[in-house]
Amino acid sequence: MGRMIAPHASGAPDHTDRPARTVRKAVVPAAGLGTRFLPATKATPKEMLPVVDKPAIQYVVEEAAAAGLDDVLMVTGRHKRAIEDHFDNAFELEQALTAKGDSVRLDAVRDPARLAGIHHIRQGEPLGLGHAVLCARRHVGDQPFAVLLGDDLIDPRETLLSRMLDVRDRHAGSVVALMEVPPGQVHLYGCAAVEPTGEKDVVRVTGLVEKPSLQDAPSRYTVIGRYVLEPAVFDTLERTRPGRGGEIQLTDALQELAAGGTVHGVVFDGLRYDTGDKADYLRTVVRLACDRDDLGPEFVAWLREFVAGLEGGMATKGGTAAKGRRLTA
Ligand code: G1P
Repeated sequence: MGRMIAPHASGAPDHTDRPARTVRKAVVPAAGLGTRFLPATKATPKEMLPVVDKPAIQYVVEEAAAAGLDDVLMVTGRHKRAIEDHFDNAFELEQALTAKGDSVRLDAVRDPARLAGIHHIRQGEPLGLGHAVLCARRHVGDQPFAVLLGDDLIDPRETLLSRMLDVRDRHAGSVVALMEVPPGQVHLYGCAAVEPTGEKDVVRVTGLVEKPSLQDAPSRYTVIGRYVLEPAVFDTLERTRPGRGGEIQLTDALQELAAGGTVHGVVFDGLRYDTGDKADYLRTVVRLACDRDDLGPEFVAWLREFVAGLEGGMATKGGTAAKGRRLTA
């Protein structure tokens, strides 16, 4: 496994000694409408919803940077200006914080723009994930590249992407991240037919199917939103016809590459959160808040009290106590 990156006090990883990579570019599709979070996402991109005190998409870019990728292309759509602004300098805000001598907040404001070279392109038409990746073709060129989906948040302490890049360096071809899920969840994901390799957490992917019924699922190994792709995927995507939901599916293009024997899977059993799902979004916020040095101790103490209140049938009292207590920020 790759090494851990020590977090700053602000929670942002320190990338000063990150590894040099042959894969340098990451593509982050971020053009979805976020309908599951309406009305919050009426005027705010879903990728900008805060997870504790950072937008979800910042964790994704931090993950790419921690794995040594220094060029990130966001594939966005209309109404996504807030994403561009977040990864840009904020001159007036920086000036105000400088005048106050507030270096901690100044760093928090500057960090997003320092993580990597950030670029933006618009998808134009919502034709599916495969089409969003194809939009990155000109920027990526003839190089292998990573794709990180914003709804999947990998815990900042995990090193999944580094592991996938290591596997790609040894096997060439493409690498997908796989997770074993309960049977009732298989229909929500791309699902892989797999064969073992000599390595415990690495499998050969022999087939892929997008959101199959349980009966049609080749396994319970499902694709989570991390991919390291060979540039050949672009030619395949050009030929890929609309599939499930009438959309051009990345899974269908990868199925073709898998049939050619060039796709591996890294089986991940670490912490992953689906911030595209409301209940999981809430779990993510609570979990990451508990883990923060600055917030955690007091928040955990409150949480214990709150849960004890719920268990003791005193939900109202716990709720009142919760409101009355001020957490230090
Ligand atoms: C997308 C992919 C699917 C993958 C999933 C991971 O689906 O199409 O293959 O398993 O992301 O989160 P979505 O969740 O965008 O419908």
